[in-house]
Amino acid sequence: MIIIMLGAPGTGKGTVAGLLEGKLGYKQVSTGDIFRKNIQEGTELGKLADSYISKGNLVPDDVTIKIVQDRLNQPDVQNGIILDGFPRTVAQAEALDNILANKGKKIDMVLNLTTPEEEIIERIVSRRVCPNPQCKTVYNVVMNPPKKEGICDKCGNELVQRKDDNEETIKSRIATYMEQTSPLVEYYKNQGVLRTEEVSQKINRLGKDVANDIERDIKNQK
Ligand code: AP5
Ligand code: MG
Repeated sequence: MIIIMLGAPGTGKGTVAGLLEGKLGYKQVSTGDIFRKNIQEGTELGKLADSYISKGNLVPDDVTIKIVQDRLNQPDVQNGIILDGFPRTVAQAEALDNILANKGKKIDMVLNLTTPEEEIIERIVSRRVCPNPQCKTVYNVVMNPPKKEGICDKCGNELVQRKDDNEETIKSRIATYMEQTSPLVEYYKNQGVLRTEEVSQKINRLGKDVANDIERDIKNQK
């Protein structure tokens, strides 16, 4: 099973992918998390990635494709994977199609999350994340705060705010999404694998509602 999380920053890709990983048992692989881990560890990849991420730009395709290609060869994702934040350009999508075709695999579902822009900005500035790579739980200090302020409910780590979660960078991230990633909606619609879900307070539909519906639909298909 190959599921792709598509959607602008802050639409809930990480939140929904984490819930689906728990429900379905397929590994969530977030390119953003891979870059952030490398930035934290000060690797060469981290230095390169930081120079793009801090401006709200995309890391170059060749670098990103190579990382995902290697990750797709690892044993823990052979039964299924939830790709969170990849692909993000048409070139990445085409490369992924080739990689999967060579393995005799195909994409089962592209989950396209949508949220009104004003809600996105509100969510991003109030997001806090658990920095523990085994946990990575996402909170929102307004909508979904931890039980104890600043502390992860699940593992007790101190929560952090992402460096790119400020109003200026988020505007540039949204512009990058519109320009480079949004064409993938049409790309995957044409492949017949797109499922669009609005996740918004306005319609009282949360990430967990989407994850529950998808779990039900996938289990019904079997
Ligand atoms: P990445 O880490 O993927 O960031 P992003 O796409 O900007 O998305 P976010 O992680 O900010 O948001 P999300 O959709 O996961 O939402 P979340 O669940 O956290 O990428 C970071 C950077 O890395 C990129 O800008 C780029 O530079 C680089 N990069 C990554 N992949 C790349 C690629 N393939 N190619 C090139 N460069 C790449 O939710 C957000 C907040 O909302 C949280 O506070 C959450 O609690 C809250 N929330 C979620 N759902 C709801 C809801 N329904 N109601 C209320 N609050 C909610
Ligand atoms: Mg995310």
